[in-house]
Amino acid sequence: MRHKIFLLGLLVSMLSCSNKIEKKVDTTLLQDLDAQLTFFADKTSNPTEVARSFENGKYRMASIKDWTCGFPSGTMWYMYELTGDEKWRTNAADNTLKLDGLQYRTNSHDLGFMAFCSFGNAYRLTGDEKYKEVVLQASESLITRFDEKVGCIRSWDHGDWDFPVIIDNMMNLEMLFWASKVTGDQKYKKICISHADVTMENHFRDDMSSWHVVGYNPENGSVEVKQTHQGLKDDSAWGRGQAWGLYGYTVMFRETGDIKYLDLASKIAEFMLPNLPKDKVSYWDYNDPKIPDTYRDVSAAAITASALFELQSYNVDNKKVYLKTANEILASLNSDKYRAKQGENGGFLLMHSVGNMPKDSEVDVPINYADYYYLEALKRQRKLLK
Ligand code: GLY
Repeated sequence: MRHKIFLLGLLVSMLSCSNKIEKKVDTTLLQDLDAQLTFFADKTSNPTEVARSFENGKYRMASIKDWTCGFPSGTMWYMYELTGDEKWRTNAADNTLKLDGLQYRTNSHDLGFMAFCSFGNAYRLTGDEKYKEVVLQASESLITRFDEKVGCIRSWDHGDWDFPVIIDNMMNLEMLFWASKVTGDQKYKKICISHADVTMENHFRDDMSSWHVVGYNPENGSVEVKQTHQGLKDDSAWGRGQAWGLYGYTVMFRETGDIKYLDLASKIAEFMLPNLPKDKVSYWDYNDPKIPDTYRDVSAAAITASALFELQSYNVDNKKVYLKTANEILASLNSDKYRAKQGENGGFLLMHSVGNMPKDSEVDVPINYADYYYLEALKRQRKLLK
């Protein structure tokens, strides 16, 4: 009997000890991230611009014309949420409010990224109406790019396409769903559903990887071309594009409850997951023949982890695998291989993202959207652990 009580006591103390270790690791990680983001905020303070990436000791800055401008403040809002530290609320607010002018831009399809990650998180966390008004105006600006004949929001105004739509554009719909909920006006939601349905029809291949760009004929909505812009070649699977699709259709299911979107998100995951390397951090393009001797795209990994944490919460067949993979991605990103040492990397949290390989731009560098989706994924993971 005494022997049994001793063993039980040992087990209890071992369990509580391992729990303490987990908590300690978790607290240390958060302290490290907080210190690094503080360094970043100090180094990149600027009245109108934010830091987009860091290369050869120099920051590439982004104004309200840049699709990435909302991420640094969004990262700070997430840090505020993770730590509860008022310092982050102040920092995030300063970095959000300076982007105020973006709400009137009608020449960008990226307003969801720009306004919802910054002002959207600000409103969600503070309830302050001044943020809400900006997101509503940004939603209004974004829907001016919707075309009835094509059934999509137009992506770029540059290039030779008559009406280009890129898979990334799925990420701008979440803000429009929010606008419908806040105003009660279904016009925004209808646009999301139309855009997602047309994209579902035309962007996906038989193996459920996706093309980056689909060019439409605005006269009749027919497809003119299917191409890449940031991937290796037209018929390759650009890494971040796959992650955008996964995330975008997971949100579509959340916001509509329509099972066809959940099916598509699962099928995208079925393409991606078996093609990930051992540490689950994807290569910049799934079809690069140089794999494994080519670049990872840490931003794609962070987006994928965040999306998988949400996808596994729904009634899907492979939920255990999705959760396991999301945890494995985060474990890799938390490690020295991908997470920067304090005071290095220009203060960005993560290293090794790829912006635009064909243009040789931002290759293997820290980029602000990787940090944003990394903290979002950490937040989602912590919520599950609670
Ligand atoms: N939306 C642009 C990119 O993912 O690089």
